[in-house]
Amino acid sequence: MKRSFIREILESIDEETISFAGGLPNSNLFPIQDLRNATLKILDNPKVYQYTISNGINELREQIAKRYTKEGFPTTKDNILITTGSQQAMYILAKFFENKEITIEEPSYLGAMNIFRLNNLKMDGVKLEDDGINIEGFEKSFKNSKLAYLIPDFQNPSATTYSEEKREEISKIVEKYDGVLIEDSPYSELFFEKKMAYISAKLPKNSFHLGSFSKTLVPSYRIGWIRADEQKIKSLMIIKESIDLHSSGFVQYILAEYLKDEAKYEKHLQSIRDDYKVKADYFSEQLNLIIPEFKHQKPKGGMFLYGSFKDKIDTFALIEKCLKKKVVYVPGNQFYIDKIPNSEIRFNYTHSSFEQIEKGIKLIKSCL
Ligand SMILES: Cc1ncc(COP(=O)(O)O)c(C=O)c1O
Repeated sequence: MKRSFIREILESIDEETISFAGGLPNSNLFPIQDLRNATLKILDNPKVYQYTISNGINELREQIAKRYTKEGFPTTKDNILITTGSQQAMYILAKFFENKEITIEEPSYLGAMNIFRLNNLKMDGVKLEDDGINIEGFEKSFKNSKLAYLIPDFQNPSATTYSEEKREEISKIVEKYDGVLIEDSPYSELFFEKKMAYISAKLPKNSFHLGSFSKTLVPSYRIGWIRADEQKIKSLMIIKESIDLHSSGFVQYILAEYLKDEAKYEKHLQSIRDDYKVKADYFSEQLNLIIPEFKHQKPKGGMFLYGSFKDKIDTFALIEKCLKKKVVYVPGNQFYIDKIPNSEIRFNYTHSSFEQIEKGIKLIKSCL
């Protein structure tokens, strides 16, 4: 079992290196003052320091449920299990489905693939196209696995967003084979144009919908959740309890306090979308200008820009040169099951300044 390439890279680079590698949100957008105020409000209450129930505090689950219901996906607090980041949500699910087959997109999220491997899930990769997973390939794979892990909104790494048609087709296939969909949605709120309806909303009994506050508020709180049928939540709680009893109660109370002001949270989300859109546009323009041979789609949301060189370039080998010049990205092969070198690259555009974006792309060009 190998460690994540991205986490290793993040540990090895120095301050001077321009990193397009991690999935780091822009720290300048953390709502520090508002989180500080929320913390001050709960700080003197002894209950925030006590053990709490394993599925998460009522107030926070109610607020999360309310957001789903508002979007037309009826949900109560009993459908929600609070987890330590959505990374833990995936771990809990991988334990639940240990040793089974699972259909995934290729490329897919490295962190999920590592968890699946660790829990002996046999991954079957299906090609991701510009409007979502290839439907024929999906059906062929899902017929056997009856379990799928998909990231339909601004996917990590490819930034792909599923079309309405593909969302509909996926839900029909999941129903047809009475299977289960794990829909991972950490980037869904970071849309530049419009929010798409979750596939899980069409499959309330056959889905696990994963959410997280890491990309919308702060990753350090490590708070995510699973939305599922009440019976399924009860089964997952047994696994959750055996891992850590419950996620930090203190942090859950801060979040619940912060989220009381819904308008403030909405305003905050909009400020992230506005900032990221400008960054995404700028990154794409600079790429077109400096490395026109790198083909990509301008992102419509999320935190990543993905593409590929027109000619065959081993982007995994290229990283050595780039590291010496103090710029780093994630080579596309890392997001495939077999990791065979290819010409693809994932760039994170949210964490760097405009100057770093231009300088970093020029440095990469000089390595080609
Ligand atoms: C697709 C996807 N799922 C899950 C996660 C994990 O997020 P967290 O555990 O911080 O909620 C990430 C983080 O980058 C991600 O990209």
